[in-house]
Amino acid sequence: MKRLIVFASGTGSNFAALVAHYQASARVAIVALVCDHADAPVLAKAAAAGIPTITINYKGYPTKQAAEAALVAMLPATDLIVLAGYMRIIGKTLLAAYPDRIINLHPALLPSFPGRAGIQDAYDYGVKVTGVTVHVVDAGVDSGRILAQAPVAITAGMTVDALETKIHQVEHQLLPQTIDNLIEEGAI
Ligand code: GRF
Repeated sequence: MKRLIVFASGTGSNFAALVAHYQASARVAIVALVCDHADAPVLAKAAAAGIPTITINYKGYPTKQAAEAALVAMLPATDLIVLAGYMRIIGKTLLAAYPDRIINLHPALLPSFPGRAGIQDAYDYGVKVTGVTVHVVDAGVDSGRILAQAPVAITAGMTVDALETKIHQVEHQLLPQTIDNLIEEGAI
C-alpha cells in the first residue's frame, strides 16, 4: 500500500479529486491532509472523507525552518507528499526530509508562468495554449523536474473564469494519473 500525504491551503478541489480517485483503492491511501489555514474549506472535505488533518500555523514559529521541523515531526510515514494548491514555498527542512518525494501541481505549462497567478498571467499574456504541470519540488519556485503536462487551449472570447474552470478539470485528471504513473514505474 502506497501512502500519500496531501498539502492544500484553500478550496481543495484537487484534494477531493484525489480522494474520489483513491477511495476504493487497495494500492493507495491518503493518510493525512496538511493545511496551513485553520479556516480553509479543504479541512471540511478531509473530515467528511475521514482523512486525518494536520493544521500548521506558520506564524506560531520563529522561522519557516522551525515550522517545517515541527511538521516533519507530526507527519505520519509516507511514500509521497502531494502539493495540491499549497500556497507556500517548501523550505530546505521539508526538502531534506523527503528528497525527491514531494510533487506539485501548477496551473500553467512550466517553465512559462510560474508563481501564484499562473492562470491569470497566461491569460493576460495572450498565449493561445496554456495548461497544467505536475513537477518534482526543488528549492526553486515551480522549477523542479517536470513529470507530466497537459494543454488547455484559450479560445477566442474565453473569459478568465472559463479558463480557470477548464484548468481545474484538467488538473483533476492529470494529478491522479501522474501519481498512478509514478507508482507503476516504481518511482515511489
Ligand atoms: C490549483 O489550480 C493548483 O494548480 C494551484 O492552486 C489551485 C488549487 O485549487 N496551485 P484547489 O484548492 O485544489 O481547488
